[in-house]
Amino acid sequence: MADPIRIALAGLGTVGTGVVKMVQTHAQMLTARAGRAIEITAVSARSRSKDRGVDLSGYVWEDDPVALARRDDVDILIEVMGGEDGPAKAAVETALKNGKHVITANKAMLAHHGQALAELAEANGAALRFEAAVAGGIPCVKALTEGLAGNQITRVMGVMNGTCNYILTQMEDTGADYADVLKDAQELGYAEADPAFDVGGIDAAHKLALLSATAFGTRVDFAGVKTEGIDKITLTDIQHAAHMGYAVKLLGVARMNEDGLEQRMQPCLVPHSSPLGQLDGVTNMVVFEGDFVGQCVFSGPGAGEGATASAIMGDVMDIARGLNIPAFGVPATDLEAADLSASGATAAYYLRLTLADRPGTFAEAARILGEHDISIDRMRQYDHAAVEAPVTIVTHAAVPEHLHRALAAIDASEVSLATPVALRIEAL
Ligand code: HSE
Repeated sequence: MADPIRIALAGLGTVGTGVVKMVQTHAQMLTARAGRAIEITAVSARSRSKDRGVDLSGYVWEDDPVALARRDDVDILIEVMGGEDGPAKAAVETALKNGKHVITANKAMLAHHGQALAELAEANGAALRFEAAVAGGIPCVKALTEGLAGNQITRVMGVMNGTCNYILTQMEDTGADYADVLKDAQELGYAEADPAFDVGGIDAAHKLALLSATAFGTRVDFAGVKTEGIDKITLTDIQHAAHMGYAVKLLGVARMNEDGLEQRMQPCLVPHSSPLGQLDGVTNMVVFEGDFVGQCVFSGPGAGEGATASAIMGDVMDIARGLNIPAFGVPATDLEAADLSASGATAAYYLRLTLADRPGTFAEAARILGEHDISIDRMRQYDHAAVEAPVTIVTHAAVPEHLHRALAAIDASEVSLATPVALRIEAL
């Protein structure tokens, strides 16, 4: 049997503890599958004395994660400390410079430094793997780099932040307000240290940037993801959308077309009857479209001890078996900068206008839409309040720029009593 593969674990929070449990629980099975033993040799975390409910006595303790990353008795560094820079990045760089493989769940670090770290890994003959950084336990990075590797990927979609999906589904199911549900979501333990990363769409945008690079062979470009959070989504819009057959989701979309790469993370409407529309709670869903395979839908737990440990161990097993696929599917030096000039595909939109409730106001709003080449598919007007007529409209496919100009004109007109709301309807 080949020599054992030796792991150092930097971080012993929920995820790190999950990895220890998995290695200890499945030692025999992992050895049989990898053809060699999978051993943890050393660990590092902020507090040595904390009781984590796992036996760490067989492992060397290092206070400093960088010293951990340098150890001679380590083949793989698993980085589950988090933080885009600082000790996590220093430990990862040290490991790679010393020719050690790195597995990380750190989506923020990779979204900002993925290209440089992938180049460093390849220059040192090491693997850099990050399945756990994207959609938790769903093996979506592997799906792209392995199972779907024969396809030209045309679109990637994903609901990849459990906190946001929980908030949106709870608001729809219970009629609770955003602020109340946000508090519950944070108590579930999925939320990022800075909750703005969740509700502002940043965490999900980090993940989309990584999937997009892997799907399209482009350099990770987090700054090129147009990102909007869910903090402006109101119960009113969730309920109106539901009445019109849609669910509101924080949906990531990356699409490559003739104009270049489009990357968006924003609240969108999807048909309630679709797999994305039926996705409840903290579960994640990733959808890939390939030119030969068509559409593949993956769903599963997006965070948590077991799910994240599962993703990390999948990467451990690949390395133990001698598989070293470039981090983003093709050698880092061959990744090209994304052309982000794509103007955005046309889409149908959900609109909510607040019009003055007097003769001719809807006609005027419809005239402005028509003038900007926006065609109405469906509309409803109900729940009048005093002098206001709330009008919800679903448009036919529209050019985003035309729509935004039309809404600015409606907003500026005297028929409109409040800024119009517009949400894109993603065609599935
Ligand atoms: N805060 C993230 C979520 C955790 O809510 O999905 C997983 O990245």
